[in-house]
Amino acid sequence: MMRRRLPALFAMLVSASLLLVACATQPGAGADATASAQPAELVLVAGASGRAGHFVVAQLRAQGAAFRPLTRSRADALERLGPAYADLDWVECDVRDPAQVATAMRGVTHVISVIGANQIGGPNSAEFVDYGGVKNLVDAALAAKVRHFVLLTAIGVTDPAHPFNKATKGALGWRLKGEDYLRASGIDYTIVRPGGLVNQPAGQQGLRIEQGDNWRPLLRSTLSREDLALVLIEALHNPAARRATFELVNDPAAAPGAWRAAFSGLRPDP
Ligand SMILES: NC(=O)c1ccc[n+]([C@@H]2O[C@H](COP(=O)([O-])OP(=O)(O)OC[C@H]3O[C@@H](n4cnc5c(N)ncnc54)[C@H](OP(=O)(O)O)[C@@H]3O)[C@@H](O)[C@H]2O)c1
Repeated sequence: MMRRRLPALFAMLVSASLLLVACATQPGAGADATASAQPAELVLVAGASGRAGHFVVAQLRAQGAAFRPLTRSRADALERLGPAYADLDWVECDVRDPAQVATAMRGVTHVISVIGANQIGGPNSAEFVDYGGVKNLVDAALAAKVRHFVLLTAIGVTDPAHPFNKATKGALGWRLKGEDYLRASGIDYTIVRPGGLVNQPAGQQGLRIEQGDNWRPLLRSTLSREDLALVLIEALHNPAARRATFELVNDPAAAPGAWRAAFSGLRPDP
């Protein structure tokens, strides 16, 4: 399938057949606990090869978590990410294919999805990835009794008049449909809507968490992809983030790290 990279401005918005491996790379990964009532944790990272996703993988690895990184092509992923990611047991899966997603979901207890369409129109556009792919992930997660699903979308998804929605042939609208599907699924979830993503080390600025998708004042705000990864991972287990949707941007006025306490102010979705 021919794929083309979007120009940077558009990438802000829109962003297999074979299962190569069965389990994640970290110690104990994928091994169901025999002594405890619940299976050992295993985090599926969809979009692990992406500019945001590889920070999630790096943080999970640093924390010693068991995880399974997902990509359509391990070879392409390693070409982008380099040899430091070669020892991970990647699962090859196209999220547009429900059967592949069901296979990739085997033994998974938690999901972080940072997938993003890389086409405007076409077979890998938002309709089929940010909605169809998310729907497939949610369906498979439900069947696998996943305990928590963290979904990355984008600021402004609720506003059809958002200028980027026009520029991307409605990509934000498809993202919202993906969000709605997850919210209605019955799975415990957290939905994170970031501002413009940038490659800055984590912890250099504070973070601002908002709810209600009042995107206009935040239009020019940015967010460190590494900080984003930390927030996505925190949301896997923090009870304050259960069934919550929130916007996230950097905030130079806030103390780095204060965002963890700010989680306690999150309101669950109605
Ligand atoms: N860039 C921004 O400023 C910005 C702002 C707000 C929100 N966002 C959103 O944040 C997310 C991550 O952004 P990013 O910059 O990290 O994007 P990215 O580098 O383009 O990564 C996109 C990821 O999606 C995966 N993917 C795409 N189509 C797939 C498919 N059919 N099946 C399986 N995986 C698929 C890719 O995996 P493979 O190619 O390896 O298969 C890749 O890992 C995106 O959803 C983006 O829309 C971005």
